[in-house]
Amino acid sequence: MKKDIVSVLDLTKEEFSEVLSLAADLKRKRKEGILMDILPKKVLGMIFEKASTRTRISFEVGMFELGGHAIFLNPNDMQLGRGEEIKDTARVLSNYISAIMIRSFKHSTVEEIARHATIPVINGLSDLEHPCQILADVLTIQEKFGDDLKGLKVAWIGDGNNVCNSLILSSVYTGFEVRISTPKGYEPDMDIMKTAENYGAVIKVFEKPEEAVKDSDVVYTDTWISMGSEDEKEMRVKVFSAYSVNEELMKKASENAIVMHCLPAHRGEEITDGVMESEQSVVWRQAENRLHAQKALLVKLLTQ
Ligand code: CP
Ligand code: NVA
Repeated sequence: MKKDIVSVLDLTKEEFSEVLSLAADLKRKRKEGILMDILPKKVLGMIFEKASTRTRISFEVGMFELGGHAIFLNPNDMQLGRGEEIKDTARVLSNYISAIMIRSFKHSTVEEIARHATIPVINGLSDLEHPCQILADVLTIQEKFGDDLKGLKVAWIGDGNNVCNSLILSSVYTGFEVRISTPKGYEPDMDIMKTAENYGAVIKVFEKPEEAVKDSDVVYTDTWISMGSEDEKEMRVKVFSAYSVNEELMKKASENAIVMHCLPAHRGEEITDGVMESEQSVVWRQAENRLHAQKALLVKLLTQ
């Protein structure tokens, strides 16, 4: 049966670990110059309603390195842009290609495509989640702290956005504690927090960023202005001004702490240039790991 990855929890705990260990293995082999044609003649269609650097390029290179092919699909160049229904597009594409990756404004668009396609559908970022990012991030955290992340403290500072929601869901499987500090009104999705807690995840909310960061092993932040919120820029920059991950804040974290950002970053807003460039920063590693994690995910979805 086809499997979609619309949310982090669409993978079982076992599948989540399998993808991560395959990602680590593919990464090791690639560094030794070994690339394997695991997906010959498979084609990934990539629909992007919004801009992308990492997701687009890492998926395209990933398919190439696995012996397959990726096609970039701009909705404005397709009949989708002229009003053809998403469900009709899903059914037509299912006859040509092997899987669909979609980055959309609305999470419901990803769900709708998944419902109507007969091939696997991968969420490449929606307003609610960014599961591919989080697979790469957990791989990055494991590279620093080892495979067993239970009890690790992961602080999220800033906007309780799509990346934050997927991070929270990943804690159901990793067992790390998520410590969140956002301005009022910018908390993560309540249903996602409840779901994670119902699975036994430990999610703590703090009023002040310093409280969340105190003794944390990981400090994660993301833009204050996600794609689609550009109109609110002026207001958001004010609301979030106390939520910048700067050198002062990092002093509160554990001595060994790493700093994460899914990129693109806005230096001087959610993160300072100094912190981005510090020894603690693993942001480039995260971006690299998108390639390995997504290759593993594609293998998982397209070889079963
Ligand atoms: N982190 C991330 O998804 O980056 P892009 O928007 O460049 O794909
Ligand atoms: N939260 C950001 C992530 C970009 C990769 C956004 O949705 O724009």
